[in-house]
Amino acid sequence: MPEVRLEEVRRFMVDSLKAVGAPDKEARAQADLLMHADTVGHYSHGLNRLEFYINDCQQGACKPAAKPVVLKESAGTAWVDGCFALGATVGNFCMELAIRKAKETGIAWVAAKGCNHYGMAGYWALKAEREGLIGISGTNSSPIMVPTRSKERALGTNPIAMAAPAGNGDKIVVDMASTTVAMGKIEMQIHKEEPLPNGWALGPDGRPTTDAKVAFGAGKLTPLGGEEKSSGYKGYCLATMMETFCSGLSGANPSHKVNLWDLARSNESMNLGQCFAAIDPDCFAPGFGERMAECLKTWRNLEPVDPSLPVLAPGDKEHQTSVSTLAKGTVTYPQKQLEAMEKMAKRIGVKPIQTV
Ligand SMILES: NC(=O)c1ccc[n+]([C@@H]2O[C@H](COP(=O)([O-])OP(=O)(O)OC[C@H]3O[C@@H](n4cnc5c(N)ncnc54)[C@H](O)[C@@H]3O)[C@@H](O)[C@H]2O)c1
Repeated sequence: MPEVRLEEVRRFMVDSLKAVGAPDKEARAQADLLMHADTVGHYSHGLNRLEFYINDCQQGACKPAAKPVVLKESAGTAWVDGCFALGATVGNFCMELAIRKAKETGIAWVAAKGCNHYGMAGYWALKAEREGLIGISGTNSSPIMVPTRSKERALGTNPIAMAAPAGNGDKIVVDMASTTVAMGKIEMQIHKEEPLPNGWALGPDGRPTTDAKVAFGAGKLTPLGGEEKSSGYKGYCLATMMETFCSGLSGANPSHKVNLWDLARSNESMNLGQCFAAIDPDCFAPGFGERMAECLKTWRNLEPVDPSLPVLAPGDKEHQTSVSTLAKGTVTYPQKQLEAMEKMAKRIGVKPIQTV
C-alpha cells in the first residue's frame, strides 16, 4: 500500500479545509485532530474523514469560520452553543473551558449543542490529561446503532473517552464507540476490500452480515457486545448514558433525530451534542499518579495466554502505533482511499496528495 509523509498528509488536509472556507487556525486545528487519528492507528478517523468535513463545509452544514459561544455558566459548568463550527474548533473551545474551570474549582463539566462531528473522542480527553487532569469526553452521532431487541436503529455509535495521567508521563486512555466498532472501521474494510469480522454489523434484514458494503449500505451496527446473549445490551446502555450527557444536557438533537452522515449530505447540520469534563485528582486522595502507575504496571505484567501477545492497558496500542508512525514519518493508506482523495483534490482545486 502507498505511503505518504506525515507533513504531506497535514499539508493536504490544511489546504483542503482552507479551500472550503476554513481560516488558517481552524484548518490547522482540524488537521491536528485528523493527524492524531492516523498517527495512533485509528485510520477510520483520520484522512478517511476529511471528505465528510469538506462536504459539510461546502454544503453549509458546517460553518468553518464560526466560533462557539457560552450560553450559561457556573463556576464548574458551562452550556455552549457550538454554532455549527468545525469539530476541532468546538472541541478546543469546550475542553479549554473545562480545564480552566477544573483548575479553579476541582471539577468542571461542559455540554455543547450545535456541534459537528469531532473525530476521536479520546483526542479531547487527552487535552485535559496533558494538563495533569482526568479528561472525559463523549458525543452523540447519527443513528446507526440498533438497540437490543429492536429492528430499528435509534442511537449513535456514541463514543466514550477518558484519559488520566499516571506517574512518569504514563497514562490510561479509554476511547471507544458504544457500538462494537465505529462506522469508519467498516469503511476501511471497504477500502481494503476485506470482509467484516463476525458480530460487527447487521444487514438490511437485521441479521448479522460480514459483507462490508452490505453493512455500510444498511447502516445498522450492533451495540458493543453484539447480540443480547453476548451482553450487547451493555453497549446499548452505555450509548444511552452518553445520550444523556450529550443531547440531554445540551438540548442538541438526540441521536434518533440526527441526519445520517454520508458523503452526499444535505445542507442541514446534524446539531450533535457533546460533553467535555475535567477533574483535578489533586482534590482527592494524595498519590493518584502513583496508584494509577501501579495499576498499569500490574495489568501489563499479567501473564498472557499467548506470550507473543502481552497484556495491554487501555491506550497502549495507540501509544505504540504513534511511536512507530512518528519514527517512520509516514502513514500507509489503501490505494482506493488515495484515489478518492485525488478526485476530491480535483473537485476543490487543491494540489493532490503526494505519495513517497
Ligand atoms: N465522533 C464520533 O462520532 C465517533 C463515533 C464512534 C467512534 N469514534 C472514535 O472512533 C475511534 C475508534 O473506536 P472503536 O470503538 O472502534 O475503537 P477500538 O475498538 O479499537 O477500541 C479502542 C479502545 O480499546 C483499547 N484497546 C484496544 N485493544 C486493547 C487491548 N488488547 N487491551 C486493552 N485495551 C485495548 C484502546 O486502547 C482504546 O482505548 C475512537 O477514537 C472513538 O472515539 C468517534
